[in-house]
Amino acid sequence: MDFIHSPTTIADWSAKARREGALVGFVPTMGALHEGHLQLIHRAKRDGHRVVCSIFVNPLQFNNSEDLQNYPRQLEKDRELLLDAGCNALFAPEKEAIFADFTPTNYDLGGLDTYWEGPSRPGHFSGVVNVVERLFHYVRPDFAYFGEKDRQQLTILEHIGRAYRWPELIVPCPTLRAADGLALSSRNARLNAVEREQATILYRALQKVSGSAFKIPVDELLAKALDILATVPEIKVDYFGIADRHKLAPLSDWHDRTEAIALVAAFVGPVRLIDNITLLR
Ligand code: PAF
Repeated sequence: MDFIHSPTTIADWSAKARREGALVGFVPTMGALHEGHLQLIHRAKRDGHRVVCSIFVNPLQFNNSEDLQNYPRQLEKDRELLLDAGCNALFAPEKEAIFADFTPTNYDLGGLDTYWEGPSRPGHFSGVVNVVERLFHYVRPDFAYFGEKDRQQLTILEHIGRAYRWPELIVPCPTLRAADGLALSSRNARLNAVEREQATILYRALQKVSGSAFKIPVDELLAKALDILATVPEIKVDYFGIADRHKLAPLSDWHDRTEAIALVAAFVGPVRLIDNITLLR
């Protein structure tokens, strides 16, 4: 596996791969890799691509400097995990290099940041889109893999990709879960044993909702979910909602929809976790 820091070197690497007839599959990450990330690498490998993983803790997407500081960093371990997963290149740029001669663009997010994560993390999605554009600019992937766990990020990137005619194809990948249902996340490492157990209520609430979706009115369903979450009073729920699959606007009625999304965010101890599930009629 090639370990590359310089943006121009990864651009050359990618150009060489394409000259050799390969397609480039890209998995952008902020490191602290877990099975969920490795699953994206495996998927890109299975799709037959030359695979690049980037590790860059993007300051633009943190609106809380403590969160940025506390974000887990373990580059050596990540490097070994990627090597074992058969990744072809690890791109770990320095902040100064990736943002050289760069002024952030004010992207039109199409209102997709109005809800859910948007209000509690002002500027977050704009920060994500800006760094993904920078990473794409250097890596020039044919395909880029993103997890459905960060549903709103995925939806926004799909929207921006279409609106701004990015040539990269965004490939959504299902959330990987622990045996007890907790969605894998780098943040889980910050939970103590008790919090780790409490955190399982998020997926249990989502699952319960998925069983009754389209059968009972949305407000009843939401009340049911909040009752379930209230069985673990130690967690602080930020939101639980049902949304349109594509626009992410909160729903108060199913109308004749055949699909929707249920989303949740909650503080478990000091850690803010998010999860979501697709609801199908
Ligand atoms: O999902 C993430 O880890 C980050 O938001 C991403 C896409 C790597 C951009 O920094």
